[in-house]
Amino acid sequence: MRMDRLDRLAFGGDYNPEQWPEELWPEDVKLMREAGVTMVSVGIFSWAALEPSEGTFTFGWLDRVLDLLHEGGIRVDLATPTVVPPAWFYRAHPEALPTNREGVRWEFGSRGAICHSSDAYQRAAVRITRALAERYGDHPALALWHVHNEYGVPVLACYCDASAAHFRRWLADRHGTLDALNSAWGTAFWGQRYGDWEEIQPPRLTPTVANPAQRLDWARFASDAALENFRRERDLLHELSPGTPVTTNFMVSPTQCDSIDYWAWGREVDLVTNDHYLVAEEDRNHVNLAMAADMTRSVAGDKPWLLLEHSTSAVNWQPRGIAKRPGEMARNSLAHVARGSEGAMFFQWRASRAGAEKFHSAMVPHAGTDSRVWREVVQLGADIAALAPLRGSRTVADAAVVWDWESWWAQRLEWRPSDDLDTRERAESWYAALYDLHLTTDFVHPEAPGLARHPLVVVPSLYLATAAAGENLRRYAEGGGTLVVSCFSGIVDADDAVHPGPHPGALRDVLGLTVEEFQPLRAGETVRLAGTGRPELTADVWAETVVTSGAEPLWHYTDGPAAGGPAVTRHALGEGAAWYVSARLDREGLGAVLTAATADAGIGLHDDLPTDVEVVRRVGANGDGYLFVLNHTAAEATVDLAARGGAHGTELLTGARVTGRLAVPAGAVRVVHQPE
Ligand code: GAL
Repeated sequence: MRMDRLDRLAFGGDYNPEQWPEELWPEDVKLMREAGVTMVSVGIFSWAALEPSEGTFTFGWLDRVLDLLHEGGIRVDLATPTVVPPAWFYRAHPEALPTNREGVRWEFGSRGAICHSSDAYQRAAVRITRALAERYGDHPALALWHVHNEYGVPVLACYCDASAAHFRRWLADRHGTLDALNSAWGTAFWGQRYGDWEEIQPPRLTPTVANPAQRLDWARFASDAALENFRRERDLLHELSPGTPVTTNFMVSPTQCDSIDYWAWGREVDLVTNDHYLVAEEDRNHVNLAMAADMTRSVAGDKPWLLLEHSTSAVNWQPRGIAKRPGEMARNSLAHVARGSEGAMFFQWRASRAGAEKFHSAMVPHAGTDSRVWREVVQLGADIAALAPLRGSRTVADAAVVWDWESWWAQRLEWRPSDDLDTRERAESWYAALYDLHLTTDFVHPEAPGLARHPLVVVPSLYLATAAAGENLRRYAEGGGTLVVSCFSGIVDADDAVHPGPHPGALRDVLGLTVEEFQPLRAGETVRLAGTGRPELTADVWAETVVTSGAEPLWHYTDGPAAGGPAVTRHALGEGAAWYVSARLDREGLGAVLTAATADAGIGLHDDLPTDVEVVRRVGANGDGYLFVLNHTAAEATVDLAARGGAHGTELLTGARVTGRLAVPAGAVRVVHQPE
């Protein structure tokens, strides 16, 4: 793969010149140079401007844009515009519009209205992709192909008849025979047996709960159906523009996109790129940002990744478009870089005057260049350029969290024991508890090899866990790892059927216990947990009646439905241990359990650091370290460099030599290069 045009940390954004008079374009390029822009994403929504009627192409304007950018030394991430087919296409092919579960068809006039099973859409997407690749496949400005835009949002699954036929083909592939499908879906329950493939439909609106295994397969199918379309475009680009890497911008973060299995998709792109939008009103939104970045890095495996979109200030689609405070944009951007991103890019270059997103911030705001946002953009461009030495270095993680989109899809279906127990909430809370201990976290798939490289692996409610996952986690603990499993994990197999025997079937042996009964709590009810020499803990939403068979109780319930029984346990296993937390603990509770488990795992904690002073380290192939300190607080913080990779170094953003303790002003970021 020719990554040679991705040879700098990337800085730039989505550039939509077709929204502006051509006279402005040279001014854009001039400003891009002033800001240190290295790359822009072009053409994402340009299908109508490039193919005004079927088979007629108007490439002249794009030729001029790419040439102008090239002359300005700016690289191009060129999009296939297949996220918004033109109006003429839908007029000819209304069947390519997606239909929702209720049977209502979404209309043209917004974006992303696509039935991924539509032949007409697939043919049209191939036509425009081919035309673009033939024309620009060896353009000297081209650094990266950008397929489509954010598969999965705003809508992924389509419930039309073409999708139904596609679903049946996918099911035949997965299950082989109808008997196997009937068995996997448990169709003996409620008399749902299928005698012919043609009887099977998408899980459309049903009077009451639809078959959960059918719904889970449907979620898998929807992710795979879009992936087929991505692959088709990618393969064409590889063929016609050999060597140029191909990406599609992900939205890796359960807060942003819930329908794509990014473990599967991460393997299909040449470069993982991600979009992240801050939940502006959230108190500590930098924690969610860190989680998204850590998840993206993990999805990229051992390859680099790039933040392709975030915002300079407000977004326009949240209830209140809260502007970022001075310094916040840089903290956000550099937090992604700390966690592995090879640069920081934005939506979008110049704020649009018209359309749905005119109140979304941009690198060039409506206020123009005499503005705080522009000045901070220019400063950030210089900061990113100053970080050039760290290109290719890798973020070092202290612990791992197990995450699986399939398990999340399964758990959030209806009629689970408690509506209040939410996989995403648990993953975010456990992640936040690790963040509060200043630990950097990788995410791993439950069946992923190589868990042993992490001294601590946390499993927040992993409702669906295959026998292979259980085996993987058992091997990890036996081999010397410290495994911490949270409530309602290991309950069902890949078909959403309860594992045979008492809960938690997939994890009984590793945890050394059984769960005799779930004890969901009433709304607002809390229970208390106590243990000899241990702090008292509080939980809400969920408790369990646990019976140990090898595990040692550390905390027990002092009240509530499981009073007197074990609540938090530790099972010594081989060289390691498996902890179990049977209740939904609050923030303090998670912190207390993790503090004890990190000691078990031999992880030294840095308790000299205040909360919300974020410290992350990247290490290069030559052993050089890059220590990021992001101070999200309103007070100056100091960090002991010796305890974090080396007492001496150069602070890259200020150029200062530093030694001993590093002072980081309130709201600021510092990046210390620590030579090996
Ligand atoms: C992203 C999308 C961009 C823009 C941005 C800001 O999800 O890819 O095109 O819409 O959000 O809202």
